[in-house]
Amino acid sequence: MSSLKTRTCLVTGATRGIGRAIARMLAMEGARVAICGRNPDATAAAAEQLTAETGNKVMGKAADVSEYTQVVELFEWLGKELGSLDVLVNNAGIGIFGGVGELSLEQWKHTLDTNLSGPFYCLRQALPGMEARGNGHIVNVGSMAGTHAFAGGAAYNASKFGLTGFTDAAMQDLRKKNIRVTYVMPGSTATEFGGGDPQAGADWKIWPEDIAEVVRMVLQMPERTLVSRIEVRPSRPKS
Ligand SMILES: NC(=O)c1ccc[n+]([C@@H]2O[C@H](COP(=O)([O-])OP(=O)(O)OC[C@H]3O[C@@H](n4cnc5c(N)ncnc54)[C@H](OP(=O)(O)O)[C@@H]3O)[C@@H](O)[C@H]2O)c1
Repeated sequence: MSSLKTRTCLVTGATRGIGRAIARMLAMEGARVAICGRNPDATAAAAEQLTAETGNKVMGKAADVSEYTQVVELFEWLGKELGSLDVLVNNAGIGIFGGVGELSLEQWKHTLDTNLSGPFYCLRQALPGMEARGNGHIVNVGSMAGTHAFAGGAAYNASKFGLTGFTDAAMQDLRKKNIRVTYVMPGSTATEFGGGDPQAGADWKIWPEDIAEVVRMVLQMPERTLVSRIEVRPSRPKS
């Protein structure tokens, strides 16, 4: 089992939900953790609370991963504060749902820019440091919606199906450089995703902490082994 202690990690979209649970797990393990979210106040508050909860300094900077210039600034800041990354967790994502005929151009673009281009932008900025050191681990948080389409999911499904293909191709490219890429595909998870209430369905949904456990297991694998894809489902779906 490979230790997470002192590994340098960025978790995107970690002000709440799955990203926050992953950041908390990493900080508890003694990793050096940075987080981002779009809202500056929420990002600063989350970093402060995670630091207090874990006794390990968690750093935060506001950045919108759908904007390449903001991702570049985020990585410049990271480079100064923490150096190059050992672990990038591409978690930030949004859910805009609606029939294909009702989707606005803005909703379509916003979804694709955040859920698909965001992970590419972050990977692009993380890669030179990982290549220079000859190792690294990138975890992309996709979704079961990345292989299973549903009515009302046109934009979301397109973004996550795209992320499935992107992640598989990146995994094939980078494993030769000792950079592991893992795709974690949660099903329904009790968070505020898509404007949801994290308490609603908490009796049957996956909890964010459970996804964090999956990420812990993946990152602790010996360097010889790459867990390339994991599906995570509620044991007993509601319908
Ligand atoms: N919950 C589920 O049922 C479920 C199922 C499958 C997959 N997932 C995936 O899991 C990931 C996390 O979702 P979640 O359930 O934890 O949702 P959530 O509770 O809504 O949290 C999303 C996080 O991402 C941040 N974020 C959103 N857009 C961003 C952007 N452009 N740049 C930077 N940060 C951004 C949010 O902060 P700000 O709003 O402040 O930016 C927040 O911290 C997503 O990729 C989602 O697709 C969720």
